[in-house]
Amino acid sequence: MNAQTWRFDNANALYYGLIDSLALTIQMIIEEGRDPVLGLPTGNTMVPLYRLAAEREQELQTGRWVCFNVDEYYPVLPDLKALSFKDYMDRHFYSRLNFSVNRKECLNGAATDPALECVNYEKKIKESGGLDLLILGIGTNGHIGFNEPGSEFDSRTRLINLHPQTLLANFKGNAPFQQAMTLGIGTILEAKKIFVVAHGKNKARAVKDSIQEIQTRTVPASALQKHPDVTWFLDQEASSLL
Ligand code: GLP
Repeated sequence: MNAQTWRFDNANALYYGLIDSLALTIQMIIEEGRDPVLGLPTGNTMVPLYRLAAEREQELQTGRWVCFNVDEYYPVLPDLKALSFKDYMDRHFYSRLNFSVNRKECLNGAATDPALECVNYEKKIKESGGLDLLILGIGTNGHIGFNEPGSEFDSRTRLINLHPQTLLANFKGNAPFQQAMTLGIGTILEAKKIFVVAHGKNKARAVKDSIQEIQTRTVPASALQKHPDVTWFLDQEASSLL
């Protein structure tokens, strides 16, 4: 297993550790003379990360970032825009920056042909040179992006049916979406470097199953065991079963 597991005393320490590692990675890429191509997630876990990143905009050289979002709900009808991940990124990150990032890309939740949208998204990632760093959260059922249990490890970016556990975690009551588009697990595994972030005890089982148990499609994040450069950023609770 190639994964590094970093445990922090609490969520606060975790985010500072994460942002420092992010800064270091960005610096290394920029020193190579390139603009960093990043895969960026959504979810509650990432809200403090984006706040801190915006606060350290200058040091992180966010103006050079080429940003690809990991996933998006589908279909995002006009009255559901506020729930989209595009809106999430504007609200939590892009709108907080003084200077815009170099490029913002996200899967178009209003696309009429989602399959074509997914194929084109993969092309855009390839044309940009591939993801230098992909940051991921993890679902309580072990999903990464929206690759729900059962996803093939060589899956590409595609439309997927959301798992009832995901709908419950994300919407509590009535879910306005049943489907989403997501980078595939195969696509994820092509990123040069991956950070996975989890805090809270509701993630502990998924974290353990992903890192220490045998790889299985039932736990999509266990696919990351195949990747040569993965770092897990965990607080005490999320790492409590390791
Ligand atoms: C969401 C997203 C994932 C995210 C995960 C965890 O549904 N599709 O990209 O990482 O589930 O979300 P949270 O951070 O809110 O627990």
